[in-house]
Order: sequence, then structure tokens, then C-alpha cells
Amino acid sequence: MKHAFILGTRPEIIKLSPVVRSYIRRKLPFSIIHTNQHYSPQMDAVFFKQLELPAPEFNLNAGSGSHGAQLGKMLESLEPVLQELAPEAAIVQGDTNSVLAGALIASRLGIPVAHVEAGLRSYDRRMPEEFNRILADNLADYLFAPTEGAKKILLGEGFPESRIHVTGNTVVDALQHVAGLCDKLEPLERRWNISRGHFLLVTLHRPENVDSKEILTPILEAINELSTRHGLPAVFPVHPRTVRRLKEFGIDLPRTFLALEAAGYLSFVQLEKEARLIITDSGGVQEEACILGVPCVTVRLSTERPETVEVGANLVTGVAREAIVAGAEKMLARRSNWANPFGDGRAGERIVDIILESRTD
Ligand code: UD1
Ligand code: UDP
Repeated sequence: MKHAFILGTRPEIIKLSPVVRSYIRRKLPFSIIHTNQHYSPQMDAVFFKQLELPAPEFNLNAGSGSHGAQLGKMLESLEPVLQELAPEAAIVQGDTNSVLAGALIASRLGIPVAHVEAGLRSYDRRMPEEFNRILADNLADYLFAPTEGAKKILLGEGFPESRIHVTGNTVVDALQHVAGLCDKLEPLERRWNISRGHFLLVTLHRPENVDSKEILTPILEAINELSTRHGLPAVFPVHPRTVRRLKEFGIDLPRTFLALEAAGYLSFVQLEKEARLIITDSGGVQEEACILGVPCVTVRLSTERPETVEVGANLVTGVAREAIVAGAEKMLARRSNWANPFGDGRAGERIVDIILESRTD
């Protein structure tokens, strides 16, 4: 009896880490298959190390490329690995190309698929992730919905209730795991000369934002305006996709920005906890801001995390300069007194309990 984790990107490593650690604690056999969709040390190895995960047993070396090339490499190389391993279940998380490839091949081979973070929908068909998550949900045997809202969406789409399990979001578990470690880091003043509550934290990586100079420029202008007006530097750990686009477009970041290499998890969570306001287009960062009690502005047209907006932690502003500035002003004035809608930090344990309960041996 062995189960396989199939993962490939930064958020999957982070959000599957509590589930993997639960397997380790219970001494259950498992294999990690890494597609290597993310491969730069700051997008990959740093998370294995900081989250105390064993090195992947298999590496598919898919790397970067067009969607077709990337998915093609994953599908071709994953099939023989899963055939050889013959796991009793394949566990995937989220909405990336790695998730789609993992769910597709596992289901073709008759291996039950467990989809962690099922039932999220942005209803934005420009996003590759929207198709990936819909397809992964349809291929999955276990739908691990993080919230009651996600369960409602799945029921509305006709998924049988018996397949859906509300577990909470494993990101709460991940944050709890690193909380103490983050507190031991060197203070931000010493590292980057910024102080608690006196900076904006920015992340941008969605292709619909950063692959277009016409969209990216006003987003950066809005952040610069806020930064200047409030005297809050904009700390910006830059995703490698965005590094490439900034260079291609010949954009020099304004002096109010403190650009960093994509940060490891401990440093990033430290930055999140101490930020005055977070401005992002990330899915996971919206959740973490909400859980950590830091107001967030989402520079997108939609969110698949409506719980963050409903509790008052997040505002989805779109990508126009004035709308971002107005939204950020509103969030800067907000008191952080909302309740965390993403669970109690035991999602990983619940997921393993449910998978084990349905075992046949
Ligand atoms: C992918 C996911 C996205 C997720 C994000 C998490 C898909 C379709 N997209 O987007 O849902 O939010 O990961 O961060 O699956 N690059 C590097 N080093 C790396 C990885 C990427 O330099 O380790 C650069 C390459 O130039 C690459 C570009 O980033 O072409 C984009 O990488 P890719 O994995 O295709 O998509 P992401 O934008 O990272
Ligand atoms: N993250 C990180 N370092 C960074 C930026 C983000 O460790 O420099 C973490 C963040 O804490 C969150 C996850 O990466 O847990 C979000 O991943 P990303 O924004 O790449 O993808 P998304 O969640 O949008 O799919």
C-alpha cells in the first residue's frame, strides 16, 4: 500500500506539506513525484528544506515551456512512473498544469485521485487555472473542499455529496507550522531596513497581469502612488515570470519599490505578518493575508477565494490605476478584526483520516 503525491510548483509544495508530514508522523508509505514545473532553487528546493519534506523520489524534469509542451512532457513521463509505482491513491493540490497532468494520468490508470482544494471557481475563463481546477475536480474520487462555500459550488455542479469532504485549507496548517520559526528570523529592520507595519507587500505573477505591458504598468503606477503618498516602501519579492517580463518590457521599478528575489517561505510569511497592506494577484497570498489578519487588495477581475472578501479581509479592485488606489485606501482604513474562514490547522490530518478510512486492505 503506497500513496503518491504529485506536485510541481511553489504553492503545491507549501499546501501539500502538512499532508506529507501527516504521512510521515503516521509512518505511512508514500512517494513524492515532482514534475519540476518549478525548478529554480527559490521556487522549489527552499520549500522542501524549510517545510521539512523529504526529497522527491521521482523527478519528471518538465520545466518551463508552452502549455502544450509542458503538459506533454509531464503526461509522457508521469505515465511509466505511476505504472511502476502503482500507488493506491494519487494526491494533487490546486490548479496548476502539474495538477491537471497528475489527475489525468492517474485517472487513466485507474488510480483513485484525491484533489486537495477542490471546488474553487473564479469563473474567469481567461485563466488556465480555472480549466485545470474544473478538470481536476471532474477526474477526482476524493474532493477535499477547503470551505463550505467550495462544497456548495461542487454540489451545484452535480458532484455527489459522498465524494466531497470539507477539511479546511491546508495553508492554515502550513502557517501554524512555520509561525514559531518565522519569529526567530532576523528582524526586518536589520535585513532590509523596513519596519513592522510600515511597508506594502506586493506579489504579481498572473499572466493576465504581467504578460501585458499595458496592464502591468498602471498596476505598478498605482502601487507607486500609494507608496509615495503614505511613505510606505513597496516590498516586492518578484516571481521569475515577472522578472522576465519586466526585463522584456524595459520597465525599471520606481524607487519606492524594494525588489527582492522570490522569497523562501519563512521570510515571506514574516513579510506578510508585518506588512501594513498586501497587494497581490496570488491565490495563496489572499488566503494567508486573511488568516494572518493583514488587509489585502487583489489586483484581478475575480477571486476564487470569495471567503476573504466576505469576511472583509480582501478587496478585488480590478487592474485600473484609480480603482487600485481607491481600494487600497479603503483597506488601509480597515480594522483587522475578521474571523479566519479557512479552518483550524488540522486539514492535513483530516485528509489523511478520510483517505485511510476508505482503504480496502
Ligand atoms: C504556475 C501556475 C500558476 C501558479 C504559479 C505559482 C500553471 C498554468 N500556472 O505559474 O497557476 O499560480 O505557478 O507560482 O500551471 N520560471 C523560472 N523558474 C522556475 C519556474 C518558472 O524561471 O522555477 C519562469 C520561466 O521563465 C517560466 C515562467 O517563470 O517560463 C513561468 O513558469 P510556469 O511554471 O510556466 O508558470 P507560472 O507563472 O510559474
Ligand atoms: N510565497 C513565497 N515566497 C514568495 C511569494 C509567495 O513563499 O516570494 C508563497 C506564499 O506564502 C504562498 C504561495 O507562495 O503560500 C503562493 O504561491 P503563488 O503566489 O506562487 O501561487 P498561487 O497561490 O497564486 O497559485
